[in-house]
Amino acid sequence: MGFRLKFKVLVSDPLAEEGIEILRETCDVDVRTDLTEEQLIDVIKDYDAILVRSGTEVTAAVIEAGTNLKFIGRAGAGVDNIDTEAATRRGIPVANAPSGNTMAATEHTIAMMLSMARNIPQATASLKKKEWKRSKFMGVELNEKTLGIMGLGRIGREIAKRVIAMDMKVVGYDPFITKENAAQMGVELMDADELVKVADFITVHTPLTPETKHLINAARIATMKDGVRLINCARGGIIDEKAMYDGLVSGKIAGAALDVFENEPPFDSPLLTLDNVIVTPHLGASTVEAQKNVAVSVAKQCLAVFAGEPAKYA
Ligand code: NAD
Ligand code: MLT
Repeated sequence: MGFRLKFKVLVSDPLAEEGIEILRETCDVDVRTDLTEEQLIDVIKDYDAILVRSGTEVTAAVIEAGTNLKFIGRAGAGVDNIDTEAATRRGIPVANAPSGNTMAATEHTIAMMLSMARNIPQATASLKKKEWKRSKFMGVELNEKTLGIMGLGRIGREIAKRVIAMDMKVVGYDPFITKENAAQMGVELMDADELVKVADFITVHTPLTPETKHLINAARIATMKDGVRLINCARGGIIDEKAMYDGLVSGKIAGAALDVFENEPPFDSPLLTLDNVIVTPHLGASTVEAQKNVAVSVAKQCLAVFAGEPAKYA
């Protein structure tokens, strides 16, 4: 390969312009959001860095083919779609932007919980069909209900703060925080089995790991309150979708609000056929503000690595 004056960066998922502009000041940037894995493997050798959101799978094969890669950036929380072991083998730093979309995901979760409680998506669809069905869409209040939060990290604790202000009682499960720490947030810490029994609404905010896969499963659903409502704006698979479907059909679960799915897009999921399920297409981080935050963060980290410094998220 010949000598190049500028670093080359491949942006393979839609990234906010503010981040791309920062890179363009000193780098050549190609935005190519339609590449298949084969095409990516074919072109990646020309690039010094690749920046992705959740669409691109940065597999071991892509990383092996990226002989010039010096940085892999994910504009979002988690690095689920990057083979970090393959990157480590090649000594390529991988960085994300874990806090840039915290408020977006927090607000989306609360919006989903309120929309589910008051049947807002169903009532909107009904009225747009020129129906006026007031009794069909009777809702429930959040006031004085118990919210169970599984995972009290950045998003979980921001949700706790907000719903406490709405007079909800909050119980939490997170094996990595102390009872005292939870109490400072106004949250009563308990184990997962206890939490699922006492909560009226349950929302999950953990990463998807072998330990959290099907954290909510058929056995735990069986012990929940009748009419419990579930929310997943974290990662598909934390709730067992088959068990949730059965619970929604039987009426054990009164409703579910889902932003994420075991397979995305979930076009074949039977959950989409149920009236008591409301859904969004993985929109948790989709605010103008969050997309700017995460794009600028990974762009700056990329430039830091090119300058020989460590990637440090801001
Ligand atoms: P975080 O790392 O700040 O918090 C995660 C929390 O989960 C931590 O407190 C950790 O201790 C806890 N945890 C880990 N393993 C656990 C286990 N086995 N049981 C219970 N708790 C456990 O992460 P965050 O920024 O709050 O994000 C939470 C989730 O939301 C992640 O899965 C993230 O990918 C997802 N997310 C989704 C969207 C979206 O678009 N829908 C946007 C942002 C984040
Ligand atoms: C994230 O992990 O940051 C979210 O799921 C949002 C996204 O993928 O863009």
